[in-house]
Amino acid sequence: MILVDRPKFRSALTTFEQLIDQERMTQIKATKSTLLNFSSITIFYNDELAKLTELDKQQLSFFKKEIEQEKDVITLQELGLYHYFIPVKKESQNPEMLEKLRMKAASLLSGLNTAKAGDVAIMNMTGEKELSLAIAEGMALANYQFLKYFKDKKKRQNTLHTIHISDKYVTAKDAEHLQNIIEATSTARTLINEPVSFLNAVQFGKEMQKVGKESGFSVKVLGKKEIEAKKMGGLLAVNAGSIDPPTFTVMEYKPEKARNKKPIVLVGKGVVFDTGGLSLKPTPNSMDEMKCDMSGGAAVVGAMMAIAKNQLPVHVIGLVPATDNRPGMNAVCPQDVITISDGTTVEVLNTDAEGRLILADALVWAKQYKPEVCIDLATLTGAAVRAIGTYASAVMGTAEQKVMDQLAESGMQVWERTVQFPMWKDYGEEMKSDIADLKNLGGSYAGQISAAKFLEHFTDYPWIHIDIAGPAYSNSACGYRTKGGSGVGVRMLYDFIQKNYC
Ligand code: BES
Ligand code: ZN
Ligand code: ZN
Repeated sequence: MILVDRPKFRSALTTFEQLIDQERMTQIKATKSTLLNFSSITIFYNDELAKLTELDKQQLSFFKKEIEQEKDVITLQELGLYHYFIPVKKESQNPEMLEKLRMKAASLLSGLNTAKAGDVAIMNMTGEKELSLAIAEGMALANYQFLKYFKDKKKRQNTLHTIHISDKYVTAKDAEHLQNIIEATSTARTLINEPVSFLNAVQFGKEMQKVGKESGFSVKVLGKKEIEAKKMGGLLAVNAGSIDPPTFTVMEYKPEKARNKKPIVLVGKGVVFDTGGLSLKPTPNSMDEMKCDMSGGAAVVGAMMAIAKNQLPVHVIGLVPATDNRPGMNAVCPQDVITISDGTTVEVLNTDAEGRLILADALVWAKQYKPEVCIDLATLTGAAVRAIGTYASAVMGTAEQKVMDQLAESGMQVWERTVQFPMWKDYGEEMKSDIADLKNLGGSYAGQISAAKFLEHFTDYPWIHIDIAGPAYSNSACGYRTKGGSGVGVRMLYDFIQKNYC
């Protein structure tokens, strides 16, 4: 007999690294004092120049000219400090305007870091605190870095470490809440940016445990034995070609004063790397960025973190099925039939349509909570990207249209935009198999919808599916959305839950 000695865990690659050490976070502080020795950003109404009392005559006429020319930032440089002035029109606040401010703040960051600024002050002459908060948000998110694997990370670190908001309407609580949301988004980004050489499913489970401990929610990580005992055939099938075992993580935040009787359940796809399995993805351009295939899971951890840290009075459960998808010796073959935990049989026609298989088990698991609403996030289909590009997520579901609209509104507010697609029966017909209850592959068109119809089969509660394949990850930075994982979903879910359930 020949025994092949196989390594038990790929994570042996990185045993020296225990858990992610979060990079330095930008601090956001509310202050009542005037901060003269810092570089600054001042927001003012373009017809209220008189409020800028520190300007001399010459500067005033310079400002007037700049405003006439509709400049969106006016810069003064003094004693090595930068002072940026942002004129805004008196108009009713809208999401687009807030987004412009976030983007503007991100564009000012490199100047501040080049000037080696450690601190920056935000001054607000308008009385609208949302404007100061948007500037701080854009700047702090843009200041995110993933440096773990650089030898000279200290040298590469941005100098900016603290944003002081000097706005009489911004309280210490406002600043703290914003800081927590940014930390949560950054945590999601870091999890996505970690390659599978470090972040396999087991490690992902450990990271969620760490976040839960720090933020104040409970985390239980089920291992392979428990997953087998629960007969999660979708998760086990995707995992079959892998050396690393799968995990299924259950997070729960249940404050005493929760306003909701039935919990909100969040589900995130946790494919730590998607090679496609035996239906192997071609590379380049297809497999290359697939460490991002757990972005849905990362968004769920991030949202749980923000909600718990800000102590929202809401009962939330997070579920993350996790595994890599590989073409190993025992990998599932096209045409194999597998059984999901509710007994539904699925003919696997393409092993690259793996996300829906692991989500099916998670959606079945969610039934036990009788959720108020269940929202899943997943980098599920290339079809979603082809349909609407990288600027928005594709949304589908069975929740009341009012709830779907509330989510869309939150998406717009934080500029994580969504486009809703129909859930007509026709698309579901495509998922019927000749030999099993379902197949995992639909027709050639509108794959984001047939995928959603597949998932719908496993739900018996109000449900929303967010296909984040487009905006989850980018090879190039765009404003405050840094290169790599974007953390999309965290801010949208937080806004949606805070506004509608608290
Ligand atoms: N993880 C991919 C989807 C994806 C594509 C995410 C681009 C992020 C960016 C998913 O598992 C997948 O491979 N989907 C297939 C499904 C198809 C075989 C039905 C796809 O969309 O091509
Ligand atoms: Zn795939
Ligand atoms: Zn995938």
